[in-house]
Amino acid sequence: MCANKVTVLVVGAGARGEIYARYALEHPDRMQVVGVAEPREAYRQQFVAQHKIAPNNVFCDWQEAAAQPKMADVVLICTQDNMHKDPAVAFANLGYHILLEKPLAPTPEDCRIIIDAVKRNNVLLAVAHVLRYTRYTQKLKSLLDDGVIGDIVSMQHLEPVGYWHQAHSFVRGNWRNEAESSFMLLQKSCHDLDWIRYIMGDNCKDVGSFGSLSHFVKENQPAGAADRCLDCQVEATCPWSACKIYLGENHKCTPHFRRVLTADPSEENVRQALRDGPYGRCVYRCDNDVVDHQVVNLRFAHQQTVTFTMTAFTKMEDRKTRLFGTRGYLEGDGEQIRVFDFLTDKETVHQIEEIAAGTQTQMGGHGGGDYYLMDRFIHAVMANDQNMILSGPDESLESHLMVFAAERARKENSLVTL
Ligand SMILES: NC(=O)c1ccc[n+]([C@@H]2O[C@H](COP(=O)([O-])OP(=O)(O)OC[C@H]3O[C@@H](n4cnc5c(N)ncnc54)[C@H](O)[C@@H]3O)[C@@H](O)[C@H]2O)c1
Repeated sequence: MCANKVTVLVVGAGARGEIYARYALEHPDRMQVVGVAEPREAYRQQFVAQHKIAPNNVFCDWQEAAAQPKMADVVLICTQDNMHKDPAVAFANLGYHILLEKPLAPTPEDCRIIIDAVKRNNVLLAVAHVLRYTRYTQKLKSLLDDGVIGDIVSMQHLEPVGYWHQAHSFVRGNWRNEAESSFMLLQKSCHDLDWIRYIMGDNCKDVGSFGSLSHFVKENQPAGAADRCLDCQVEATCPWSACKIYLGENHKCTPHFRRVLTADPSEENVRQALRDGPYGRCVYRCDNDVVDHQVVNLRFAHQQTVTFTMTAFTKMEDRKTRLFGTRGYLEGDGEQIRVFDFLTDKETVHQIEEIAAGTQTQMGGHGGGDYYLMDRFIHAVMANDQNMILSGPDESLESHLMVFAAERARKENSLVTL
């Protein structure tokens, strides 16, 4: 650490790496990015310029960075799902504290290897379970700890993936194919099972699950549709059209998603990416195989029950939760928490600002979770205190094992006991 500033190496300066690194630009007194490993030249160059990284600390591959003596306090590992274990183990062995993108890894064995390496080397680990860190979750947790609904008996939780987000990430994009990435429940909803475990505050014992890829298959391609949206005669009637998602003044996606298509997301470059690249494909003609809807049923140690639904077929909105307790009922939607008290028959509404008043940040994604994860992690590194991290090794491993159990239950059509 130089002058109380945490120094950081970023491995994978793609979408997530770029976002977390913004913390250094917003808080130069607390964090400085001193190195990067990123193979895509355009993204690497932009990142190097943004953070003024010295040429001798710029690499095309994480292995080159890991071959150097330790150059920073921390490594942010933001590579794709199946490229987490090897860098995590290598940088833990070099003594780096680690912020690791979720999921830990695509198999339980690899997850355990990461956790063992972190513990063996006595380095700090934060898994990027951003939902734990939001002000909304922290308020919800404190209300539950105060006993506002008594003991939790059951929960309903919904992850509305969002129709164009599903098309972007899980039909056309990086997480569409299990063999290339990982299965959908792990990619998208390891967050949710982790969050459920955190809110329930108990161990999960039994898991069942159903789900499938129902809609985004070639049999559902409309008559007359082309294999690319730019060539398609029925595009105007298709809600999944890439033209509607990415092109024109009223495109549906956020700037962050357009930058996934091209490092310089001008209208012309985005159009070219739709012409040549994966994001211009008809949603019914992709090589996707991950599910578009799944339910998971969980039974916890004290017979509490949870039903969880993840589905593509929603508008873009926050997760929704209902909690049923022995003294009250609670509903939350990321912005508001409504608590109904059985004794008084009164409802109390708590409105939550995602970012605290007075805090300026460009890291408001995931309900403010991106910002608060980085903020806590950097302070934990300054204090060298794993307890300040809300998503450390043991709890992250436990919730990942719940996800693997659920996927096994779905595939084997069985009930899995943890
Ligand atoms: N916490 C969250 O809420 C959240 C949200 C989205 C994605 N993610 C996870 O974050 C991770 C990254 O996702 P993303 O959207 O940033 O993907 P991305 O593809 O934009 O970024 C990954 C980067 O890794 C780089 N890379 C590939 N090989 C490399 C190598 N050998 N050495 C160094 N870098 C290499 C790629 O070029 C790319 O820039 C994934 O595991 C994803 O599941 C987490």
